[in-house]
Amino acid sequence: HTARRHSVAVIPGDGIGSEVVPAAVAAVDAVAAVHGFTVRWTEYPWGSDHYRRHGRMMAVDGLDLLSRHDAILLGAVGTPDIPDDVTLWGLLIPIRRQFDQYVNLRPVRSMPGVRGPLRDANDIDLVIVRENVEGEYSEIGGRFHRGRPEEMAIQEAVFTRAGVARVAGYAARLASERRGGLTSATKSNGIIHTMPFWDEVVAETVAASPGVALRKVLIDALAAELVLRPERFDVIVASNLFGDILSDLASALTGSIGLAASANLNPERKHPSLFEPVHGSAPDIAGKGIANPVGQIWSAALMLRHLGEETAAQALLDAVDAALAAGVLTPDLGGNATTGDFVSAVVTTITATA
Ligand code: NAI
Ligand code: MG
Repeated sequence: HTARRHSVAVIPGDGIGSEVVPAAVAAVDAVAAVHGFTVRWTEYPWGSDHYRRHGRMMAVDGLDLLSRHDAILLGAVGTPDIPDDVTLWGLLIPIRRQFDQYVNLRPVRSMPGVRGPLRDANDIDLVIVRENVEGEYSEIGGRFHRGRPEEMAIQEAVFTRAGVARVAGYAARLASERRGGLTSATKSNGIIHTMPFWDEVVAETVAASPGVALRKVLIDALAAELVLRPERFDVIVASNLFGDILSDLASALTGSIGLAASANLNPERKHPSLFEPVHGSAPDIAGKGIANPVGQIWSAALMLRHLGEETAAQALLDAVDAALAAGVLTPDLGGNATTGDFVSAVVTTITATA
């Protein structure tokens, strides 16, 4: 009998990343002890400080080091004195692309004890499946005639049949395991080449999944519908840009961006997947010990599920719900609990229910 072991790379990153990541690590260690496995954490001190000292966001052999782990837990990167495209393209985007993490999974649900900004929306339970490696976030294009009156910029969106089919296939499987509803975000009335292609490939792919009802909705109408009737959505599949915007919108509906979790998945498991909260480094509250750790802990629960620790993942989420329901709320949720108070409540619940 050997205990299950998982090797996880940890990148706390910048700002509140170094506050919410240790919180999630403590919660995972507690649940692992109860559920009979261990996590071996290896911390990598990459991010903006590393950039100031070495001119790079991560070590030269960073991707190689990360590739040896079963999963990656990331806090956030970004700081006011370094351009955001430098921090993003120096760490997160290379990881997503090198490790072919083509699914960005962003679950959104109403949490107990937390009021969102909408009057009647208390039973939101949806998942956004965002295409994560192609689409609108492309390096193809350029700027010409810089600084002259005729200056111009071109950025090409790249959609491939294989790229759209695999993310649509993932979303269809997920929908079939949930309530069977799949909404595809499109804009085929205005974007006349890539979006009709997206629609065709999504429809062809989903046709192979009986029991999944596919609805395609124009992105602008979809944004409005998410605000008006969020509880109607089950799974939403969207391109890189549309999925990015929709997931901030949807997570805001549940109360705070501090609650929102995400997984960057390589579903074939050829490479490690990366788990991170949706929020950034929040420089405005960094260093005060009041960051909401729920998004980070929930991301860690998605990681445990991906590592096959389904029961432990659920126990972790149940403990988060219990803490929220008991009124342990950080200031973003209208309370006065600290990050540490919240994690203590989670760890106590996990240990007590053991
Ligand atoms: P942000 O998510 O860091 O903050 C937006 C607002 O939400 C702030 O008022 C912040 O205090 C609040 N907030 C965020 N997370 C919170 C939490 N866990 N608990 C309580 N309140 C929370 O987004 P912003 O301000 O646009 O970006 C700040 C920096 O983070 C930038 O450098 C940006 O590039 C970076 N960023 C990094 C991301 C990543 O690493 N994946 C994602 C988004 C932004
Ligand atoms: Mg975003």
